[in-house]
Amino acid sequence: MAIDEGTTSARAILFNHQGQEIGKAQKEITQYFPHSGWVEQDANEIWNTVETIISEVLFKSEIPPYKVRSIGISNQRETTVIWDKNTGKPIYNAIVWQSKQTASIANQLKQEGYEKLIHEKTGLLIDSYFSATKIKWILDHVEGSRERAQNGELMFGTIDTWLLWKLTNGKVHATDYTNASRTMLFNINDLKWDQEILNILNIPQKLLPKVEDPSHIYGYTQDFTFMGVQIPISGIAGDQQSSLFGQLALKPGMTKNTYGTGAFIMMNLGNSVKLSKQGLLTTIAYGLNGEITYAYEGSIFAAGAAVEWLKNGIKIIDDVSESGKLAQETKTSEIVYVVPAFSGLGAPYWDQNIRGSILGLTMHTTKNQIVRATLESLGYQTKDVLETMVDETGIELKSVVVDGGVSKNNYLMQFQSDILNKTIERSQISETTALGAAYLAGLSVGYWKNITELQKNKTAGIIFNPQISQNNRNKLYDGWKMAVKATSEFKK
Ligand code: G3P
Repeated sequence: MAIDEGTTSARAILFNHQGQEIGKAQKEITQYFPHSGWVEQDANEIWNTVETIISEVLFKSEIPPYKVRSIGISNQRETTVIWDKNTGKPIYNAIVWQSKQTASIANQLKQEGYEKLIHEKTGLLIDSYFSATKIKWILDHVEGSRERAQNGELMFGTIDTWLLWKLTNGKVHATDYTNASRTMLFNINDLKWDQEILNILNIPQKLLPKVEDPSHIYGYTQDFTFMGVQIPISGIAGDQQSSLFGQLALKPGMTKNTYGTGAFIMMNLGNSVKLSKQGLLTTIAYGLNGEITYAYEGSIFAAGAAVEWLKNGIKIIDDVSESGKLAQETKTSEIVYVVPAFSGLGAPYWDQNIRGSILGLTMHTTKNQIVRATLESLGYQTKDVLETMVDETGIELKSVVVDGGVSKNNYLMQFQSDILNKTIERSQISETTALGAAYLAGLSVGYWKNITELQKNKTAGIIFNPQISQNNRNKLYDGWKMAVKATSEFKK
């Protein structure tokens, strides 16, 4: 069983030995926006939702708990929960990865000149995206919490840690290397929490979980959801790393893009740490049998979120599924650009202060053009990241494997191939993120013996090949770059 706890919904999925989905339950999670740019969730709601979908998937597929061989967790990363060790009650809402409430803490760290130190130690760039500033914010704002943390009365966790703690009924406080590498507190060279960074942020080490290999038995379920059956929780990975693993992109240079709420592009770097000069993150991709594999990551903050905005924000579509059709029906060659920098821009720009724009409007612009431009913005942002990856590594990509909800959009996939001039291979398994967590969990209990056995489960994806001229491609992409430049100048 894989539990994939994403930003907007949680899924529990059962996989068989062939890696096929044999049962699935899904439920949405409420997001709260208490102030402009802030995004929070209720950690108890997340746990209750996970409990519900576990029961539901077992019930629907008529699989008794004792038949579940192991459990893997993949999760929205960076989202931060701090709770009381004794009561189990969170002391503040979960601060979600997208939230900008800690931007001033991040800015201050930059002003104090910590960028190089943080980059060299953690592989990350200073940004409110990561857990570190969120932990500091909670300790600064919840009265008495820093002292309680110092006394060992509180626990910090990303969502994996919170769910693991709940599933084991408070017995295990741990995380894995991939999630730890997103906190901005973990040294990816020596694989330890970094005391120097903890001192800079005034975060007591006692708050932090133990860090373990992603494929490893963390503990056993003690929770009534499994009717007292003790099932090993034996795989944990952040959702993007998990999808890299689910895609079996396990050789250096292999690259995937997952289009979820955000879009996250990862290139496997092999076993040594490489630091980017152009705004890519270096992160831990996975660890198997004590050997760590690193990856470059380019994070795009608004992917599915931008399409959602068309529906819930400016309300020009009724359902996200109609966006591809509307974009396809837009026959005009008049180009509009949408820069969906709702909460800043991630790689390679890393500008947390920039806000979005729509450029190129005329009296004839239709809503369909805005829909098309929004979808295309995901393609352009992906190109920004991939060009940087190719430039930094010298690895010329032939194709990119893709997954995630928004990858079902055929218009976007064709545009992605056109603008990149690369083959796009869309996985037939839409839940590669959950599959990755299932693989990690299954490997450590011997359900699958090794990677070779996993490779046998791989099926060919759906292929999109480029169809536009180089001239046209250049024209479109030059326009995008101008749009981003104009948008970033506007805020000044
Ligand atoms: O880093 C944030 C990421 O893990 C969120 O993923 O799938 O919820 O967009 P998703």
